[in-house]
Amino acid sequence: MKIATIIGARPQFIKAAMLSRKLRDEHDELLIHTGQHYDYNMSELFFSELSIPKPDYNLGISGGNHGKMTGAMLANLEDVFIDTKPDIVLVYGDTNSTLAGALAAVKLHIPVCHIEAGVRMHTLHNPEEVNRILTDRISTLLMCCTESSIAELAKEGITENVHFAGDLMYDATIYYQQRVNHMKHTLTNFDGNTVTLPQKFYYLTCHRQENTETDRPLFEILTAMNSLDYPTIYPVHPRTKERATRILSEYKFRNVLLVDPVGYLTSLWLVSEALKVVTDSGGLQREAWFLDKQCITILDHVVWPETMRGNVNQISAAESSEILAKLNVKPDFSKKGSPFGDGNAANKIVLLLSQYSTS
Ligand code: UD1
Ligand code: UDP
Repeated sequence: MKIATIIGARPQFIKAAMLSRKLRDEHDELLIHTGQHYDYNMSELFFSELSIPKPDYNLGISGGNHGKMTGAMLANLEDVFIDTKPDIVLVYGDTNSTLAGALAAVKLHIPVCHIEAGVRMHTLHNPEEVNRILTDRISTLLMCCTESSIAELAKEGITENVHFAGDLMYDATIYYQQRVNHMKHTLTNFDGNTVTLPQKFYYLTCHRQENTETDRPLFEILTAMNSLDYPTIYPVHPRTKERATRILSEYKFRNVLLVDPVGYLTSLWLVSEALKVVTDSGGLQREAWFLDKQCITILDHVVWPETMRGNVNQISAAESSEILAKLNVKPDFSKKGSPFGDGNAANKIVLLLSQYSTS
């Protein structure tokens, strides 16, 4: 089969790294980068570090409001699909690139395979939730990371061609973890200088629209982190850079270290070395869970219920007192189990795609 894979954002590069190499053993892959993430350390760094094949197309579409970005991607992807005639279009996760890819394909009657289907937060105030629900509804093949995602789809009446595949992020953690400890990791501050890592630290990432569109939530999160017994390392997503820098300087928070976004391998290493993780990232909360690290997720709704077992992960509002209280809860790692599969999600997805192509 000719499979057109749509990627555009950091988490999709990591998942594609795991799937592309297996997919290409059996199928022809056309890799299409929408351009949604474009800074060197948000895009190219991932391609070189993780040996992701060079995209066949880069549409160069980024920024702007959701409608403008998604609309431009939709129009461009439609042209590419008409020219290249893929047998199936594969999309990952819940970004604007995901929705645009799925929508362009379904209108041309090209089947869509959605990886990471069935994730639900149960609020339409989260822009990614809108992308997930719509993408699932128009997908032909739905690959789920967990059994609870399968149950979520069933509640919406989606039961055909729904599969438990496991989580490609778990595949990636297992695959790259070995390499991570032997690497030299460097962090760079906004002046371009290398930062010396403290012996003990907390790892923070925060980039969700809900937490970074106004000062208040980010101020609360940084207040909590600044009051901790050890420093916090915070690689800052470009959308948050101006606000985070200003809040730190205005309130003289000296216990939080802002650095440029890091590559995947350094991020994985930071998770494994950190005392605890505080994040609003879907990927990072799972990586913390895979690596037995206590995590606080700053969101109003649970995204990955499995990670909440034994309080290994807890959600918290963006309120300093709640974050600190939750950081003091002792997790019970013995309750974890293995709901994200066995680290072979890529093989399972390729097998399911091959079975679909001959059905
Ligand atoms: C997107 C996804 C989110 C995912 C995140 C991964 C949507 C709706 N959201 O959010 O699900 O968690 O990617 O990190 O698709 N920017 C840069 N340089 C870059 C990338 C972005 O400056 O390399 C700027 C953009 O110009 C924009 C802002 O950051 O102004 C936000 O970027 P955008 O792609 O809209 O959303 P993310 O917050 O990255
Ligand atoms: N990540 C990274 N560098 C960073 C922050 C995150 O490589 O500076 C990795 C990390 O492995 C995380 C993944 O990028 O799991 C997903 O990205 P992000 O948090 O941006 O997106 P989400 O998972 O929330 O969609």
